[in-house]
Amino acid sequence: MSDLVIVSDEGPIRLVRMNRPDKKNALTMAMYEAMSAAIEDAPKNPALRGLLIAGQPGAFTAGNDLADFLKASKADGALGPYIMRFLYALARCELPLIAAVRGLAVGIGTTMMLHCDHVVAGSDARFSAPFVSLGLVPEAGSSLIAPRLMGHARAFSLLVMGRPMNAEEAKAAGFVNNVTPPDEVEAEAMKAAREIAALPAQAVLEGRRLLRGSREEIIARIEMEAAIYKTCLQSPEARTAFEAFLNRKR
Ligand code: COA
Repeated sequence: MSDLVIVSDEGPIRLVRMNRPDKKNALTMAMYEAMSAAIEDAPKNPALRGLLIAGQPGAFTAGNDLADFLKASKADGALGPYIMRFLYALARCELPLIAAVRGLAVGIGTTMMLHCDHVVAGSDARFSAPFVSLGLVPEAGSSLIAPRLMGHARAFSLLVMGRPMNAEEAKAAGFVNNVTPPDEVEAEAMKAAREIAALPAQAVLEGRRLLRGSREEIIARIEMEAAIYKTCLQSPEARTAFEAFLNRKR
């Protein structure tokens, strides 16, 4: 396991912490792999009742590493087996997913919320999905789940126009449960995780499954999005946007 993701089992809760603060937790292939394994392996520990995904102060994650996207853009344009593995792991996860979000949650940092069951956000949280300005399209099943959750207009603003949402807006949109001061986010998220863990386990799993709806439908949408993403990643617009970010002068 990479130290860029720290995984620890704390009683009934598996804490999965993204740990690349110098790059605002931008996700590399190794990080996707470590996070996927943490989710996929959870059922091997029968004591676990949920997973809590967390980041760093000020940065949940800046989204996919744009240097990796540039490489993919110059190669076959595919989202890559590591990213796809992570998206499948999210969609197939049976245990409740809880998120503790401080600061930036960009791209997949926002779309993974749609697979979570309970989200605590700091008052400094900022959810954004600048896919289209990067020449890309929404991913992770977000094109299916977001309009159902928040309505087409808000989903369009977030996922197509790329307008960010602050924590209160995300709560109003339905993917954040509560907003706390940033330094209380993790304690509050762990409290909620333990509350879920104390409920009858099988009933939680069944209830969650009923609420989530068809997993096959979500996976089919993830694959449909990935096919379009592949074409988009290779476009001149996308390549120019990645290069502009990586070569920017500050
Ligand atoms: N991929 C690769 N590196 C990234 C990154 C990303 N997605 N996001 C941030 N970084 C790196 C920066 O290059 C910088 O590295 P450096 O110090 O070696 O130059 C470091 O993380 C800090 O980022 P910086 O831009 O200085 O922080 P900021 O607070 O000014 O801005 C962001 C933070 C997230 C707003 C800005 O970094 C950004 O827009 N990142 C790209 C987000 C994105 O488009 N993600 C993909 C979505 S699909």
